Amino acid sequence: MMHTAVVAALVLCLFATEATCSSAQTPTHNISSCLLSNGVKNFSLPTDPSYMPLLDSSIRNLCFELPGVGKPAAVVLPASKRDLQRAILCARSSSLAIRVRSGGHSYGGLSYTTENHVPFVVIDLTNLNRVQVDSGSGTAWAESGATLGELYYVVGRSNRTLAFSAGSCSTVGMGGHTSGGGFGLLSRKFGLAADNVLDAILIDPSGNALTRESMDDDVFWAIRGGGGGSWGVVYAWKLRLVPVPSNITVFSLGRTGPVERIAELMHKWQYVGPNLPDEFYLSTYIASGSSNGNLSMSFTGQVLGPKHLAMSVLSRSFPELGLAESELSESSWLESAVKFADLDSVLNLTNRQPGVGQYSKRKSDYVQAPISMQDAIKIIQYLSTASQGSILLDPYGGAMARVGSTETPFPHRAGNLYSIQYAVSWKASDIDRADEYIGWLRSFYAFMAPYVSKDPRAAYVNYLDLDLGTNDWTNATGGTSNNSVSHAASWGQRYFLRNFDRLVQAKSKVDPENVFNNAQSIPPLHYERQH
Ligand code: FDA
Repeated sequence: MMHTAVVAALVLCLFATEATCSSAQTPTHNISSCLLSNGVKNFSLPTDPSYMPLLDSSIRNLCFELPGVGKPAAVVLPASKRDLQRAILCARSSSLAIRVRSGGHSYGGLSYTTENHVPFVVIDLTNLNRVQVDSGSGTAWAESGATLGELYYVVGRSNRTLAFSAGSCSTVGMGGHTSGGGFGLLSRKFGLAADNVLDAILIDPSGNALTRESMDDDVFWAIRGGGGGSWGVVYAWKLRLVPVPSNITVFSLGRTGPVERIAELMHKWQYVGPNLPDEFYLSTYIASGSSNGNLSMSFTGQVLGPKHLAMSVLSRSFPELGLAESELSESSWLESAVKFADLDSVLNLTNRQPGVGQYSKRKSDYVQAPISMQDAIKIIQYLSTASQGSILLDPYGGAMARVGSTETPFPHRAGNLYSIQYAVSWKASDIDRADEYIGWLRSFYAFMAPYVSKDPRAAYVNYLDLDLGTNDWTNATGGTSNNSVSHAASWGQRYFLRNFDRLVQAKSKVDPENVFNNAQSIPPLHYERQH
């Protein structure tokens, strides 16, 4: 499907991302002939029937499918590490910016868009999705294009008492997720996905494959939470798998009530969720809007132990929840992954296309001191008046607080009770109300300022938020300037706090020419190129 005659590139003027197309030497022509002459056969050009379906295949935020969003000169699907290395070199020799895509879940579309219509290529790692588990050592190697569902499937099938600590959505890619941290239901016990990376193979801007041993220490540190797209392409990760009981307890509870009741549950949850034993995960999700004066709230729970343990701890620490034993069930960790991904079978964990994407906008915050009951009422009141929108409160504490804030680039450790993810999403039929929905989300975020972390107001890089600021790259290799770093600090310090400076050092070592850049990538220190 992908192998396309080079001649097709000569008729691409209508589709090419460059404004003009005066000769045969378009970026599309250049990269396709480079790929072919280097034996890379699996790619799609804008004239191919496969091109748009392929490009759209993992776009989760449909805002980036709208007309006006620049399209790549090619979508390359490396089938091997060697293909990946050559794709990077061909993109560079064709003066195309590189956008690497694993699962395509970037909230800001950073794996398949550029700023200022800079011509680019998407290197899509879908076919690099192999996972190999070594049960004896409790480790696995996972290629970056594997989704969390594909990883969980192989791990859970290999051994019922092994698991991996990462997010719950099965179609999220290992590449972007682990690069930005990766929080999930096991994180209070075992930390983030990035905390459980033992080694990695990073393809650098010159196409070299670096491992932990051959990589600079700052670079190995940076790739484990410093955000995707800045350092090179992580081809594969060596992961520490974690032990879980053969049966664990899971539940999803719905609760409805007037503002005061929902606020009371939220208020109490703040004292419970972050302080439960490490084996417990209890998050809460509150949707905006009310029906007959009632709002709805849900709780997602996982306990690494039997039902009776879950019951005894939760009924003592959170009696207001009114938990009944009939609301709990026991299953293997793998079956729990199916439930929390909202799927109907274990095999579906390997389906890269369940459901459709959404038009959405999200933002994040960290809460360091419990919000008072009076303020919780105001917050729920604010939510109740909107037609779209939600908040997801994820409990920290446990292992999240035991990892030091400089051990990895992800700094939101001890002192953070929970994260808030604000979301608003809408359907295609509501597209003309997008500005209204996004405006509401921004005003709610402004309203929340007194209750969350300050100086700086922190955010989670995997809940990417382009409102925090963007680079303004105008060519394929970024084109850094003296003020690139100070400009990027305005959002980089919100994602990484004091770790931002070490990330800049790491970037300057591994990619001084800024080959791997995007709208919120870490810039290298500026240097004058020697001609
Ligand atoms: P995508 O392919 O878009 O990549 C994201 C970024 O990483 C881009 O800049 C990309 O270039 C770069 N990148 C990708 N592969 C790379 C590689 N191999 N090497 C270097 N850079 C690479 N988060 C969380 O912590 N817990 C959760 O439970 C969830 N749940 C969740 C559900 C849903 C529906 C969405 C849309 C998102 C989440 N997230 C999340 C956020 C998620 O972790 C975040 O969007 C990740 O960056 C997605 O990684 P993908 O590989 O899917 O994205």
